[in-house]
Amino acid sequence: MNVLLIGSGGREHALAWKIAQSERLGTLYAAPGNAGIAELARCVDLDISDHSGVIDFCREHDIKLVVVGPEAPLVAGLADDLEAADILVFGPSAAAARLEGSKGFTKELCARHGIPTARFARFTEAQAAKAHVADHPLPIVVKADGLAAGKGVVIAESRKEAERAIDEMFAGAFGEAGREVVIEEFLEGEEASFFALVSGETVVPLAGAQDHKRAFDGDRGPNTGGMGAYSPAPVLDAAMADRVLQEIVRPTARAMMAEGAPYRGVLYAGLMITAEGPKLIEYNVRFGDPECQVLMMRLASDLLPALLATARGELSGLSLDWRAETALTVVMATKGYPGAYEKGSVIRGLEHLRADPDLVVFHAGTCRDADGTLRAIGGRVLNVTALGRDVAEARARAYRAIEKIDWPEGFWRRDIGWRALSRPE
Ligand code: AMP
Ligand code: GLY
Repeated sequence: MNVLLIGSGGREHALAWKIAQSERLGTLYAAPGNAGIAELARCVDLDISDHSGVIDFCREHDIKLVVVGPEAPLVAGLADDLEAADILVFGPSAAAARLEGSKGFTKELCARHGIPTARFARFTEAQAAKAHVADHPLPIVVKADGLAAGKGVVIAESRKEAERAIDEMFAGAFGEAGREVVIEEFLEGEEASFFALVSGETVVPLAGAQDHKRAFDGDRGPNTGGMGAYSPAPVLDAAMADRVLQEIVRPTARAMMAEGAPYRGVLYAGLMITAEGPKLIEYNVRFGDPECQVLMMRLASDLLPALLATARGELSGLSLDWRAETALTVVMATKGYPGAYEKGSVIRGLEHLRADPDLVVFHAGTCRDADGTLRAIGGRVLNVTALGRDVAEARARAYRAIEKIDWPEGFWRRDIGWRALSRPE
C-alpha cells in the first residue's frame, strides 16, 4: 500500500523509519520530507495548504493512507477534505483538532466533562483579564488561545508581568491566536506526556515520555519545541498511566463523541503530575517532537496497521508490543535556536554511526547537496536517539554518538534525562 507522510521534522523521520519497516508498505511518499526521510521515502514538493492538490496527488499515486505529522494542516481541515474525497487519513478533523487549536475550547470541554485541569477563565479584552489577575494568586499563567508555535504561554511571577503579557497578546504579538486569552492557575508538579491512539470512543494507549523544553542545561533559557526526550517516563508508572487513561484520555474521547466531533488520530496529553494526581495542561492532536522519536524506537509492533486501523475506526482489539528498554533522544540544534540562526552549515561524521541497531540519528532540518554534503537548514537539526536498559545507558549511548558528529555550528543539552536520573530509587 502506498502512503503519503506530511511533514519535515524529526517526528516525521521517526514515523517514516517505522512505516518503512512495514511489510504492508508499497511506496512511501513524503511532503516535503528532509534529507533523512529521503533515504526512506520519495520526497515530493506539494503545497500542503492546497487541499485539492494533495487529493489529486493521492489519486495519481494510488495513496491508500495519508499520515499527517504536524498540527497546522489538521487545524486547517486537511483531514476533512481528504475524507470527503474518500482517502483514508491518520489525523483528526478540524473540529476535533480544536483540542490543540483552541485552548479555550479544551478548557471548556474539560470543565463540562469533569476532566482534571488547571482552573481557568477566558477573556476577549484586556481590562477584564487584568481585573481577574488583580486578586489571583501568583504565579499565574497567561495563554494566547490559538496556535502560537509553543510561544504563547507566559508564566508570570508578578501581576505586572501578567498584565504585560495580556497587553502584548491583545496587541497582536501572536496574531489571531491572541484574540482570546486564557488565564490559568499555576500547577505544581512534574510534567510528562502521554500518547494514545483514539478513534471515536476506542482508545489504545501508546506510552509516556518526558521532554526538555528549555534550550539550555538545568532547564534554563528560552522555551523551544523540545531539546530531548525519553520514554518511558518514570513519573508515569503503570498506575499513574492508568489514571491518565481513566481520568483524562477516555473521558476526552467520550466527550468529543458527545460533542459531535469524534477524535481520530494520536492524542498527546501534556500533563502535570500533581500531589492530587494527573492534570491536563494541554492537548496536542499529533505526536510530540521529539517524543515521537523515542516512542518509535520502543515500538516493537508494526506501526502501519495501527495507523490504518485508527484511520478506519477499527481500533478495538488492537494491541501493541513495546520494548522494555528506555529510549532517549538528544536534539542537536543550530546555535542561536530558538532565536535567529544561520542556515547552511555542513554536518560531517554521521557515516561513522551506521552500524549500531540501537542508535538512530533522525533528521529534522537537514538537506543534502547533489554531491551528498549534509547541511543544517533548520533550528532543530538532528535527533540522536538510543535504546538502553535504562535512562543512564541510553543516554550514555546517545552522547557517545554525538562525539562522532562533526558540526561546529551546532549545540545540544548535556543533561537530557536528568530528572529521571535524579529520582530517589
Ligand atoms: P502549553 O503550550 O500549554 O503546553 O504550555 C507550555 C508550558 O507552560 C508547559 O509545558 C508547562 O511547562 C507550562 N504551563 C502551561 N500551563 C501551566 C499551568 N497551568 N501550570 C504550570 N505550568 C504550566
Ligand atoms: N515536544 C513538544 C511538542 O511536540 O509539542
